[in-house]
Amino acid sequence: MKIGVMTGGGDVPGLNTAIRAITKRAFSEGYEPVGIKNGWLGMMEDALTIPLTLEAISGILPRGGTILGTSRNDPFDYEDGPQKVLDNIKRLGLDSLVVIGGDGTLMTALRISKLGIKTVGIPKTIDNDIAGTDYCIGFDTATNIVMNALDNLRTTAESHHRVIIVEVMGRDAGWLATLGGLAGGADVIIVPEVEMGVEDIAEALRERHRRGKTFSIVAIAEGAKPKGLKTMPETVVDKMGYIKLGGIAHALAPELEALTGYETRVTILGHLQRGGSPSAFDRVVATCMGNMAVELIKNGTFGMLVAYRNGNVVPVSLDEALNGKPHKLDLDLYRMTRYFS
Ligand code: F6P
Repeated sequence: MKIGVMTGGGDVPGLNTAIRAITKRAFSEGYEPVGIKNGWLGMMEDALTIPLTLEAISGILPRGGTILGTSRNDPFDYEDGPQKVLDNIKRLGLDSLVVIGGDGTLMTALRISKLGIKTVGIPKTIDNDIAGTDYCIGFDTATNIVMNALDNLRTTAESHHRVIIVEVMGRDAGWLATLGGLAGGADVIIVPEVEMGVEDIAEALRERHRRGKTFSIVAIAEGAKPKGLKTMPETVVDKMGYIKLGGIAHALAPELEALTGYETRVTILGHLQRGGSPSAFDRVVATCMGNMAVELIKNGTFGMLVAYRNGNVVPVSLDEALNGKPHKLDLDLYRMTRYFS
C-alpha cells in the first residue's frame, strides 16, 4: 500500500504533526507513505516527492509549517489539470491519497475521489470554518497567538491611554477574533457574521471611558466590514485571483479616533498567526486525525473526511461534510463576549 500525503492551502501549525502521525502509523501497518510536494500544484506539475521515512519525520512533531510545502492551486481550474493529477498518481504508483487542507483543497480532494482515487481528507485552517467538522488543525495555536498579542498590547494601551485595534485573520469567519478576543480580554470584537456600525464601536469605547477606563482593545476579523465605514481598503488579488485581505483596521482607526477623540493605534497580526510550534491541543488532534486517516485506508473506507465532532475524532463522508452545513460562528458565544468589555 503506497500512500501519497499532501498539504494544500495556507499553512498552519500542526501540519507536520499530522504528517508524522500518518507516517508512523503507516509504517506500523507495513505501508509506504510518500510526501507530495506543494499540494495540488505539485501533483499537477512535476509531482516531486519526498520519501516519508522515519528519519525524514524525526523531530517534526513540534515544528510549524509543512515539510511538504503547499499551494492554493486547484487542478480543476486548468483544462488538463485533473488528467495530469490522475496520470501522476498512476506514475507514482499511489494506491491512496491523504489530503490535509482547507475547504478549497478538500473540495478538490472530493472531486478527485469522484474520479476513482482512494482519498481521505484532514481539515486544517486557522479560520476554523470548514464544513462538517467542529475543529480544524491550527485554530487553537492561532487563538493562543492572538491571546498573547492582546496580553502584550493591553499594557502599552493602558500606559498610553490609547485604543489599539488588533486585526486578526478570519476571511469569512469570526472564530479567531471571538475566541482569541475572549481569551485575551478584547473590549470590542468585530466579526464578519454580525453587523456592527462604526458608531456602535465608538459608543462601546465611550461607555468604557464613562466607567473610568482610559484604554481599550478592539479585535477585528480581517473579513469584517463595519457599517458606515467611509473608506474601505483597496481590493487586491494574488496571482490565483484570491482576494488578499488585510487593512480593515487601518481604515477603521482614523474614523474611530475622529468619533471618540481617543488616540488610536493599529496592529495587524497577519501571518504571525500561522507560525510557530503547535499547541498541545493541535498536536493531539493532528496526531489522532493522522492516525485515523491510515486506519480508514486500512479498512478500505475512502472518500472520507476525518472530522472532529463533539470532542471526538470521527470519519464522515467528504461529500456530505463539504456540501453540508458550514461551520458557523457560535453566535451565543459571540454575544456572551459583550458582557466582558
Ligand atoms: O485561509 C486561511 C487564511 O489564513 C485566511 O485567514 C487569510 O485570509 C488567508 O489564509 C491568507 O492567505 P495568504 O497566505 O495567501 O496570504
